[in-house]
Amino acid sequence: MELKKQISEAFASHFGGEGTFYTSAGRINLIGEHTDYNGGFVFPGAIDKVIMAEIRPNDTDKVNLYSVDMNASASFGLNEADAPAEQWARYVFGVCREIIKRGGTVKGFNAVFAGNVPLGAGLSSSAALESCFAFALNDLFNGNSIDKFELAKIGQSTEHNYCGVNCGIMDQFASVFGKKDCLIRLDCRSLEYEYFPFKIDGYKLVLVDSVVKHELVDSPYNKRRESCERVAKRLGIETLRDADMEMLDAVKSDISAEDYMRAKFVIGEKERVLGVCDALNRGDIATVGRLMYETHEGLSKDYEVSCEELDFLNDVAKECGVTGSRIMGGGFGGCTINLVPDAIHDSFIATVTEKFNERYGHAPKIYDVIISDGARRLEE
Ligand code: GLA
Repeated sequence: MELKKQISEAFASHFGGEGTFYTSAGRINLIGEHTDYNGGFVFPGAIDKVIMAEIRPNDTDKVNLYSVDMNASASFGLNEADAPAEQWARYVFGVCREIIKRGGTVKGFNAVFAGNVPLGAGLSSSAALESCFAFALNDLFNGNSIDKFELAKIGQSTEHNYCGVNCGIMDQFASVFGKKDCLIRLDCRSLEYEYFPFKIDGYKLVLVDSVVKHELVDSPYNKRRESCERVAKRLGIETLRDADMEMLDAVKSDISAEDYMRAKFVIGEKERVLGVCDALNRGDIATVGRLMYETHEGLSKDYEVSCEELDFLNDVAKECGVTGSRIMGGGFGGCTINLVPDAIHDSFIATVTEKFNERYGHAPKIYDVIISDGARRLEE
């Protein structure tokens, strides 16, 4: 059933009547992985996989939620001590608290939500949920006085303070600022950004989901960030944005081999994002693809956030003649993103499905990417 219809039926049956509809999106990232919390560049875009919510203030100081996908309800108050036990409800609780902490207003409301962003696939379902509610509560209770940068930060702080993931700003930024048919080159240090109309004639972006569930909470994600911060500290700089290989090599003997590899990846990745943007401007798609493969290699060997299945998907892409392929998002499972010439699109999907199935006993999931708008109120 269509998402909106499902939500509106559940809303009527749980709370009666109607509310206002809001939505926000999951994201892809063409290149620039693990650079956001290092003050570097990223190149994401919102996609047509979304979280949608119907919300109505209820004139109390309680929030009542119903998740269609989980077929579960949760209720909580708006004080710090009222954190719900359910992990999924903490994303919404965190958004409420972060708005209040910033001096904004949140009052009680009833909400039903559902989504079609695959969970744990590295497509940022949690950022979509956070931005959907941040946008909605800004609209419903704050006359849209909180700017979009702050909405993204509200989502990020929710992850930090209520969900245990020390993430960067990329996912929430893409989810809030996403624009149809555009990727966003974001400088994560200054938050300056530029929309790049993204359509490469003759190519498609395809996501291949290994269906290995990535779970960033309790994953080594936070450890990666700590490595980067240690190296930056040793170099006397704020973030690795300001480091180059010469500086890193000069402290090589003072840092662990592991920290060295992590920082080496980040320094290379920061340059690759800019390289991809330049290559796109020149129409040099071969270079875009080559840099994507380099990123995969670095994420796998130096940053060590790959897994066997993702490396296998990358190898098959290479064998099939896919122009560029790499792990997307935090890693430890989830998807590869593939830049695929139209001429081999169908055969690549058939081959990767068959080979993966042969090796792992189940098919990967395939998603075509459609770059779409981010957080907004649904007007109709
Ligand atoms: C996750 C985090 C992001 C970013 C990516 C890796 O998606 O939420 O902030 O660090 O991993 O690029």
